[in-house]
Amino acid sequence: MGFFGSTKTKKIKAARRMEGAVRLPGDKSISHRYAMLAAIAEGPSEIHFFSSSADCHSTLACLRALGVGIEEKDETVTIQGVGLKGLRPPATKLDAGNSGSTMRMLSGILAAQPFRSVLTGDQSLSRRPMERVIDPLTRMGARIKSGKGGLPPLEIEGRDGWLRPIRYELPIPSAQVKTCILFAGLYAEGETEVIESVATRDHTEIALEEFGADLGRHGRTIALRGPARLEGKRLYVPGDISAAAFFIVAGLIVPDASLVLQNVGLNPTRAAILDVLVEMGGRVKVLNAEMIAGELIGDLHVEASRLKGGEIPPERIPGLIDELPVLAALGTQTEQGLSFRGAAELRVKETDRLAAVAENLRRMGAEAEELPDGLRIPGRQTLRGAEISSYGDHRIAMAFAVAGLVAGGTTVIQDSACVDVSFPNFFEELARVAE
Ligand code: S3P
Repeated sequence: MGFFGSTKTKKIKAARRMEGAVRLPGDKSISHRYAMLAAIAEGPSEIHFFSSSADCHSTLACLRALGVGIEEKDETVTIQGVGLKGLRPPATKLDAGNSGSTMRMLSGILAAQPFRSVLTGDQSLSRRPMERVIDPLTRMGARIKSGKGGLPPLEIEGRDGWLRPIRYELPIPSAQVKTCILFAGLYAEGETEVIESVATRDHTEIALEEFGADLGRHGRTIALRGPARLEGKRLYVPGDISAAAFFIVAGLIVPDASLVLQNVGLNPTRAAILDVLVEMGGRVKVLNAEMIAGELIGDLHVEASRLKGGEIPPERIPGLIDELPVLAALGTQTEQGLSFRGAAELRVKETDRLAAVAENLRRMGAEAEELPDGLRIPGRQTLRGAEISSYGDHRIAMAFAVAGLVAGGTTVIQDSACVDVSFPNFFEELARVAE
């Protein structure tokens, strides 16, 4: 693979060879949760293989601003837990950067503090809907003001005493909203219940149990008894399967490729991409699977494969929501193409990912039909190198870098530094395994 360019743009050429072991960052979703729970637990926590992502560093910066002692050494983060009631009023606004998880999950904790705080974010985050957390938190007794239309910034007024527990049916499948309510439930007297119509990633439930919260699960209902007392822990974060997804797809579509990905988080509520790819004929093997702190971890071996393609059913969408951009790129290389619906949430991610994927595939000379809540991508398409607009969205930048590996000519990824949001070493790893 020819690979050059500045921090602003990266140039990708077709890969002639792709093999080796890819070093992944620690899981971003799990790192956010461990950091927030460690901050309000009693005593120190040591989190190994903490995500190197800018998003998780936004979470750490907010926690520091709330008076939490945090030390970072290599990939280990040590957090001095202050207990449920030990956070201090921040001297400045809390900047969540590009991270929806930071803003939505932290608001659950901030809603219960006896001080006022303001959560802001970058331009992209400032356009993302927050009503979904404001509504349940208000029902729990929080006082929150937002920008117009429920957009950030969020101004969370302090309150004394505990919140009210609620029973809440999630109107949209969102693990961030579920987490926000459960975190607020730690500060409520009695049982907070969240009901999901479709299961979303359950890292929060697992982490809460690990930190010692009183949590029960019955079918799609999660019940948490508050107020809780959490204990500091020593934890290990699995490799990020959503980061792995770019290399899994690359390993399947680049001719003769063979890749190894070690210690990948394989939690079944996150790993739907593996089922979908294997059903399409992808040669992805799981080796050495084991459970660590309630999370399934294993090694993946991926080999270039003939892929049938097909339709991803809507009930599978929450389990692979972040992987859809790169799956769309893969769709062009399948026999029957790839389509999915039920993914309107993609329109309110870091950018409108349905529009961004369709637009960039067309720039590469491919056909792509944009549906209100999905995409229909014909198979057996020839891609040609093009100027790709990432729209500042890390997953769009990485999905099209992967598409560039099987395109004729040069693909230029504009604003490529946005990959730092989830996978700072993405281009280095790509250059290491692809030639
Ligand atoms: C996340 C949940 C998903 C996902 C995001 C991380 C999480 O968002 O897209 O990247 O860690 O809980 P939604 O909760 O908005 O679906």
